[in-house]
Amino acid sequence: MAFIAETRDLTHMYDSNVALDHLTLQIPEGSVFGFIGPNGAGKTTTMRILTTLLTPASGRAWVGGIPVTKDPQGVRQIVGFMPDFFGVYDNMKSWEYLDFFGRAYGVPADRRSTLIKELLELVDLGHKHDDYVMGLSRGMKQRLSLARTMIHDPSLLILDEPASGLDPRARIELRELLKELRAMGKTIMISSHILTELAEMCTHIAIIERGRLLASGDVKDIMRSLQSHLTLEIRILEGVDRAEHILRGHPDILKVQREPAVDYAGNEDNTPESIDDNAIHETDTETITNDHTSETSTQTLLIDYTGDERGASELLAQLITAGVVVVRFSERHSDLEDIFMQVTQGLVQ
Ligand SMILES: Nc1ncnc2c1ncn2[C@@H]1O[C@H](COP(=O)(O)OP(=O)(O)OP(=O)(O)O)[C@@H](O)[C@H]1O
Ligand SMILES: [Mg+2]
Repeated sequence: MAFIAETRDLTHMYDSNVALDHLTLQIPEGSVFGFIGPNGAGKTTTMRILTTLLTPASGRAWVGGIPVTKDPQGVRQIVGFMPDFFGVYDNMKSWEYLDFFGRAYGVPADRRSTLIKELLELVDLGHKHDDYVMGLSRGMKQRLSLARTMIHDPSLLILDEPASGLDPRARIELRELLKELRAMGKTIMISSHILTELAEMCTHIAIIERGRLLASGDVKDIMRSLQSHLTLEIRILEGVDRAEHILRGHPDILKVQREPAVDYAGNEDNTPESIDDNAIHETDTETITNDHTSETSTQTLLIDYTGDERGASELLAQLITAGVVVVRFSERHSDLEDIFMQVTQGLVQ
């Protein structure tokens, strides 16, 4: 696999404060690389080194095979950086802002105006071509900043917390935009400390804490290596108590948990119950036959399952044969939040 950017034993100090501690990273070409860590972990420091804005104390870094300290100009042609803050640009219109950076990157004059229109369209700001930058909303400024990072058509986009401060709709739009950029062949490195924000859009992740790498690799591989068993999600329209009774007795099932049902006002109407094999009470039989409410409303059971796929399909058949009305039977993947908690547990003092 080809890597568009790499670091080896990258170390950086601010006075005596160690910000990066022998960080070794590999960013595969064409990936969406989630760079995850809490405040002060060293994300921005790493990104500033990769974009040649900061010289590391020791260790090495390459972008497109070029060492960042040896040929910063060469690296800057390949990489586009979106910092986590938007500078002050008084009296500058959107197109002027992009034109300014286009000139700085040496984009020829006859190409610039078309390119600026295309980039503004790409980030959905075509209608703001002649608006002043300072009059744009935060989300619009983020998108303008993203357009700016692409003015010299770099292969690698390094985006420092691009979703921070955006409302839910703007976040979804950003995600869609990143998908589009990936389809255009860009590699994207994106940082966040809100892990779930990256869950759906990343192909690879690296988790850092106090300047040290805790885990990195393909999102699926990391999840697989951390999961010793599957979580099955079974959504049931009718017969949830019957289903629970069957599942509890199954040898490949470690735990059965009922997800709280939510009413139309958004209130949880029951608390999650965790039931293990050894905790079956005599009153359960009574519950199974008398609990008409839960027998007729849709409920979700989460099952910790250690068996294989054939066993799972037999389990489904068993539920259906017993008259349980199943509307969904699927594998639930842990999100990045879970991975982060598992990886950091015990590793961070
Ligand atoms: N200019 C600076 N001067 C002194 N210390 C700094 C400077 N920039 C960062 N640091 C320190 O280096 C460490 C890493 O900071 P960095 O900004 O890289 O973290 P981060 O992961 O980007 O955090 P955040 O999520 O808050 O943006 C922190 O301990 C921080 O206090
Ligand atoms: Mg930062």
